[in-house]
Amino acid sequence: MSELVIKNLHVSVEGKEILKGLNLTIRKGEIHAIMGPNGTGKSTLAYALMGHPHYEVTEGEALLKGENVLELEPDERSHIGLYLAFQYPVAIPGVTMANFLRTAINSHRKAADPEDKGVPIPEFRTMLKERMDLLKMDHSFAGRYLNEGFSGGEKKRAEILQMAVLQPEIAILDETDSGLDIDALRIVSEGVNALRGSEFGALVITHYQRILNYIKPDFVHIMLDGRVVESGGPELALQLEEQGYDWVREKYSQVAA
Ligand SMILES: Nc1ncnc2c1ncn2[C@@H]1O[C@H](COP(=O)(O)OP(=O)(O)O)[C@@H](O)[C@H]1O
Ligand SMILES: [Mg+2]
Repeated sequence: MSELVIKNLHVSVEGKEILKGLNLTIRKGEIHAIMGPNGTGKSTLAYALMGHPHYEVTEGEALLKGENVLELEPDERSHIGLYLAFQYPVAIPGVTMANFLRTAINSHRKAADPEDKGVPIPEFRTMLKERMDLLKMDHSFAGRYLNEGFSGGEKKRAEILQMAVLQPEIAILDETDSGLDIDALRIVSEGVNALRGSEFGALVITHYQRILNYIKPDFVHIMLDGRVVESGGPELALQLEEQGYDWVREKYSQVAA
């Protein structure tokens, strides 16, 4: 069974240690939520896992299918089944959604089989339309430049569309709920829920409990000052909703100090 096992992860940004020995295991078929105050290192975790060059791994490992993904190039991480939906997706003027997605799929296919000639266009179009319908996206989206002039909600939906097309084994969603109104939140959540199943695991990073009303997590973790300090079930998220993070800070003040 594939699982992502993160062990004793230490990550520095510009010489400052942000992740200080983080441990977490995500099995395929499970949805995990990570919650934590701003500045605690949630995005740092996401970026380090995908290989952003700004984030320096100084210690620890992240094993997926027996490989330490931290030693792979970002595209190789994607090929073995990791996906990151960005908190702040960037625009790529001149590259249409459709071209971008087809290139990504073909890159995955080529990694699996060097002889692969790429996805036939009619097959790609049908699949793309299907996935756009799932996310209630207008088909004209496919012809637009990636994230160029997209609203906040459209950008997040585009991130989920990429995920639905690439069908990763482990997806990391970094505050996909931020900036979404309730309708967009519901649509994005339905998109994630549609992928749920024994072949899909996800790490939903969020500051608020709200998205977890729609994407029901199997496990909830609280992150504070670069570590996972508490793990439990969905009730943990409800406790945070009611009581905030103060009790966590108090309980782990020696850690946060
Ligand atoms: N690219 C960066 N350059 C400098 N500092 C950064 C960078 N990314 C993150 N940090 C710092 O790392 C800490 C954790 O940030 P982040 O991982 O974004 O937290 P979260 O996502 O939990 O709000 C913060 O103190 C932030 O200022
Ligand atoms: Mg963040």
